[in-house]
Amino acid sequence: MLLLSPVVLLAAAALLATIQLIRCLRSPLSKIPGPTVSKFTTLVLKWKEIHAQRTTYVHQLHLQYGPVVRIAPNEVSFTSWEALKEIYCSGGSGYDKTEFYDLFKIYGRRTMFTTLDKAGHAKRKRILADRYANSNVMKSASVTGVQERSSKFLRHCVSSPGGVADIFVTLHAYACDCITHHLFHPHGTDCITNKDDEEMMHQVAADDSLQNRLISHYVPTLYRLFSKVLYIFAKPRETPLADDFVLETSQISGPASFTLMSRFEEKSSDLDYIDKAAECLDHMAAGIDTTGDGLCFLLWELSQPRSLGFQRKLADELHQNPGIPLDRLPYLDAVVNEGLRCFPPIPMSLPRYVPQGGRSVDNFWLPEQTIVSCQAYSVHRLNSDVFPDGDRFNPDRWLEQDGDADRRRMQFAFSNGGRGCVGKHLAIIEMKTLLRDIYSSYSTTPHKSMKAEDMAMSDQLISSRPLSQKCLLHFHPLDVNSQ
Ligand code: HEM
Repeated sequence: MLLLSPVVLLAAAALLATIQLIRCLRSPLSKIPGPTVSKFTTLVLKWKEIHAQRTTYVHQLHLQYGPVVRIAPNEVSFTSWEALKEIYCSGGSGYDKTEFYDLFKIYGRRTMFTTLDKAGHAKRKRILADRYANSNVMKSASVTGVQERSSKFLRHCVSSPGGVADIFVTLHAYACDCITHHLFHPHGTDCITNKDDEEMMHQVAADDSLQNRLISHYVPTLYRLFSKVLYIFAKPRETPLADDFVLETSQISGPASFTLMSRFEEKSSDLDYIDKAAECLDHMAAGIDTTGDGLCFLLWELSQPRSLGFQRKLADELHQNPGIPLDRLPYLDAVVNEGLRCFPPIPMSLPRYVPQGGRSVDNFWLPEQTIVSCQAYSVHRLNSDVFPDGDRFNPDRWLEQDGDADRRRMQFAFSNGGRGCVGKHLAIIEMKTLLRDIYSSYSTTPHKSMKAEDMAMSDQLISSRPLSQKCLLHFHPLDVNSQ
């Protein structure tokens, strides 16, 4: 009975709070710059995450405290190249991923993306990477597929009433058609012209499950008890059309030889059909949002009056070099790189654990299991020696010989090291093909109904999309004879 008296309970609570306070103050991370609240609780960071503002919150902390910031009692964010190299490239693929990636399991399975440890990841990557190598992506059947889908995208936009198109939807449709072509050809989607396929893609691109999934991750017991009530306020991720499409399509035999499915037919002894489908659905989701949102932010920026000079330079290069391979168009390359620098589709922290024994990163000693990360948004904007005037969209910076190697190694949009984006070559071909097709024959301007706030960055679980999920642009035919 004595144990239950209020005095004893209060004293026990005070003792526990004191122990916790001493632990926080004596933590090996206590010398790391950061707001006081980060020493004691993760609540502020979680609050920002739930409100889709993690990236800008962490960025503000870097602006205030510098390149190394403690953002929670056990979590540190970095922006320097030395830190980035250590966390993501040391030993080939850097430090192991944290349980945050459990949120992306598919059909209850781990994929290459969600495998946490190096060995498991390397084993899966040995099976899959071949089909995303540049040599495979550049095969004629693969490139022709992207080209056809890009032509379809443009036809769709310019034939819209008044030449005004919502590119947010159509770009995601394009990205879905390109990635499913690479996974399943001849059984890929046709979201640009087929309404059923578009609806399936839309479930993936318009997913609004950020809050629900974060709650399931941070407070699993509460989530299990109250998930039905929570459902009313915060929807879970539900993509039944895409789930079914991939489960069915990944069982059809005889896919084209450049596709991921054909690789599975050749080499996947210990993967069952659910593992293969999970991998395909993961790549499909990864390919839709990233390429779709990245292109959307980039086309929006190119259409602004402040960027019309860049648009004109791109059009000039394309006009003067018809039929030249995509990798020999330096201004096109500069525009894509600058788009990915200013608007990285995955702008936020990619969390990793400090390995056993602890490590020193950027001259701060970190005990094992500390969560460390870099976020592309800040890496790209705060290293002013490499990217002067980092908030300004300026493709010309990529043409300067001076500092070229530094800029390319600090390009973190696809991450870096062995766990960097496997779909990078495919994504770049998709982006360059589409930009070439548009700006060879058209110029673009924003529709008058669009406001800057519509295109504000809205964090999702790992990627970011325009807040309003719409982007209306005018397509104006170029008078090619006057160029
Ligand atoms: C502009 C487009 C894209 C961007 C900016 C991008 C960015 C990234 C980033 C930053 C990562 C690392 C994520 C992390 O460590 O948490 C990643 C991984 C990955 N991406 Fe992409 N991605 C793009 C397009 C694609 C496409 C088209 C695919 C289709 C296959 C794809 C598939 C993947 C996969 C499977 C991984 C996991 C790789 C691994 O763990 O080894 N991505 N991507």
